[in-house]
Amino acid sequence: MRKGQRYASTMMRTDAPELFRAALKRAAQLLQAGEVVAVPTETVYGLAANALDAQAVSRIFNVKNRPAHNPLIVHVASLSMAKSCVAQWPPLAAKLARAFWPGPLTLVLPRARSIPDEVTAGGPTVGIRWPRHSFIQALIRYCGFPLAAPSANPSNQISPTRAEHVLRALGGKVPLIVDGGPAQVGIESTVLDITASPPRLLRPGIIHEEALLAVTGRLARGPSRAALTRSPGLLRKHYAPRARLVIWRWQDEGELRTRSIESGIRPHKIHVLAHTRIPSGKDFARLSVMPRDVQAFARALYSELHRCDDAGAELIIVEALPYKSEWQAIADRLKRAAAP
Ligand code: TXA
Ligand code: MG
Repeated sequence: MRKGQRYASTMMRTDAPELFRAALKRAAQLLQAGEVVAVPTETVYGLAANALDAQAVSRIFNVKNRPAHNPLIVHVASLSMAKSCVAQWPPLAAKLARAFWPGPLTLVLPRARSIPDEVTAGGPTVGIRWPRHSFIQALIRYCGFPLAAPSANPSNQISPTRAEHVLRALGGKVPLIVDGGPAQVGIESTVLDITASPPRLLRPGIIHEEALLAVTGRLARGPSRAALTRSPGLLRKHYAPRARLVIWRWQDEGELRTRSIESGIRPHKIHVLAHTRIPSGKDFARLSVMPRDVQAFARALYSELHRCDDAGAELIIVEALPYKSEWQAIADRLKRAAAP
């Protein structure tokens, strides 16, 4: 986007071969011309631009209102393209790529000179991911260049898992939104810094600690102080709905009702997301029965939060999650959404 430029945002479907091809051609045309396009990935929708074109990349920051010091992930569609974006490709990168790519894992590596400062926020490293979604894979291959893409939401809001979420939040700011269906993973990729020793898990994701440990052998948890300044997306407040979000554990419906009355918020402005102790719902605007399976929960979560916002919720009560490590990524997103 040239600063302040408005577009009539077109939405293109991909759920038939000829639609897929038409969307592919149009998206590639725009990207080749240095424009920004919203595209599906298996984690969340991304706001993509040619990663090798500094000017195109800087448009992403305008559209999202993103601070320039927050680096972007570079999306590739082959190992050779991944290697072309980095200065070193250590054996551990090869092992992790073999285990998890294409998929929801971002590897932080020393950057290649061809990657502009706009992508890395001037830092010495670059985050690389080979996504699994067939549309973005086809698009990268068609274009022949890697795509820099953050989640396609205005800074500090919830990531989009459906094309309509992008349209509502960024309509008019991008020329094209490609609809690739609901995101299969539903939360953002795991970010692993393998320039650190032991490798450091900067952002938990659906590829969880145990899965990583099986490949890396060792793992440091949580961002280092240095990484926090390099990766502001890891700061506490992030991914937040407009409504206040609280995480509660309750014994029974009576307890939940009492506590919700104490919140002082009127019942018709309260939404509840529960997965084990399901209340009847009669005391609230909406009750969402969430899946007990971690992957299904991740897939549903952001859509539910978007729906609460759209319905004008003032309080979202989420039932506390199990303490198991596979739930860590979801717990992390909820904790951030709940941060005051
Ligand atoms: O699943 C995903 O990762 C999605 C889809 C579109 O691929 N993308 C995404 O991008 O979530 P974004 O920009 O919303 O979040 C990327 C996170 C940010 O917290 C950023 O600070 C961090 O990754 N990051 C990117 N490059 C980094 C680097 N070189 N070093 C450390 N952190 C980095
Ligand atoms: Mg984001």
